[in-house]
Amino acid sequence: MKNPGHGPTRRLRAWVGAAGAILLMALWLLWLLGSAPGGVPVPQPKITVLVWHWPFTDRSPELPGDTCTRYGMPYCRLTTDRSLLARADAVVFHHRELQTQRSRLPLAQRPRGQPWVWASMESPSHTHGLGRLGGIFNWVLSYRRDSDIFTPYGRLEPHPGPAPPLPVKSGMAAWVVSNFQERQQRVRLYRQLAPHLQVDVFGRANRRPLCAACLLPTVARYRFYLAFENSLHQDYITEKFWRNALAAGTVPVVLGPPRATYEAFVPPGAFVHVDDFRSARELAAFLRGMNESRYGSFLAWRDRLQVRLLSDWRERFCAICARYPHLPRDQVYEDLEGWFQA
Ligand SMILES: *[C@@H]1O[C@H](CO)[C@@H](O)[C@H](O)[C@H]1NC(C)=O
Repeated sequence: MKNPGHGPTRRLRAWVGAAGAILLMALWLLWLLGSAPGGVPVPQPKITVLVWHWPFTDRSPELPGDTCTRYGMPYCRLTTDRSLLARADAVVFHHRELQTQRSRLPLAQRPRGQPWVWASMESPSHTHGLGRLGGIFNWVLSYRRDSDIFTPYGRLEPHPGPAPPLPVKSGMAAWVVSNFQERQQRVRLYRQLAPHLQVDVFGRANRRPLCAACLLPTVARYRFYLAFENSLHQDYITEKFWRNALAAGTVPVVLGPPRATYEAFVPPGAFVHVDDFRSARELAAFLRGMNESRYGSFLAWRDRLQVRLLSDWRERFCAICARYPHLPRDQVYEDLEGWFQA
């Protein structure tokens, strides 16, 4: 007859089974600890990223060995030493210099299987010559969220302590613009807004240039900043939004990708989106008629968050190492132009 297996016998068996499992787990943990002496993490091998040419300059910055440690990536070495091409774990090429032919791709010397990274923070409207770059790059570094190495122009992060004091406001809206052309959507919108809203225009376009150190204190005195992108593209949100508006402590009025894109980066109540209004006149009326409590709500994020500008190319290139273990090795952008200009 089969042992029904209930009562004390069954309970005992369960106990013995559980004790065995715990013992095995303890042994496994001991083995794990033993393989890392003193509990110190096993050092990871350094990843070497060769920057073929530094963006926009012939003089690359000094790149001491701990450059990426400052950005939280200690196992990353950035170099511009082209003699390391054969040994680099990845090579990154900034697009502008390829476009102007100031720098050339070392295609003949490329080691088999070496990942190459295409890097650019410019919008598709200002990016040319992609047609001849198909089938070369494995990974893309850009502000687009679907990039292999996603490097936005900025982000919000928690800040310790109280919010910094809000700058005193004396003006309605400011706009800094250097490239001003009637065919631009942002200029058309400005033309429609101007009759209904006091907008002070700074920058070369209006022969009121601002020195680098003067820009933020100047625009901070305004309630709103026109964070109008020069062209409208997927995910293209630049320092006009992050720096000139949010970091300055003024409320951005944005013209750019759809509201949902901005909401992926900042709280929905932290900006005014021009798409939410039927006309420039209606937008102007909203901005002018806003009371102080409503205005303050646009800046409420400052109580717990601060802007971190991500404008340093060193940090962007170090980000390649952070993503390195997770990126597909067999991927190639056969149609880079199709991907970026889509
Ligand atoms: C301020 O404006 C908001 C939204 O327009 C409104 O709900 C609120 O009652 C106003 N507050 C005062 C004090 O007028």
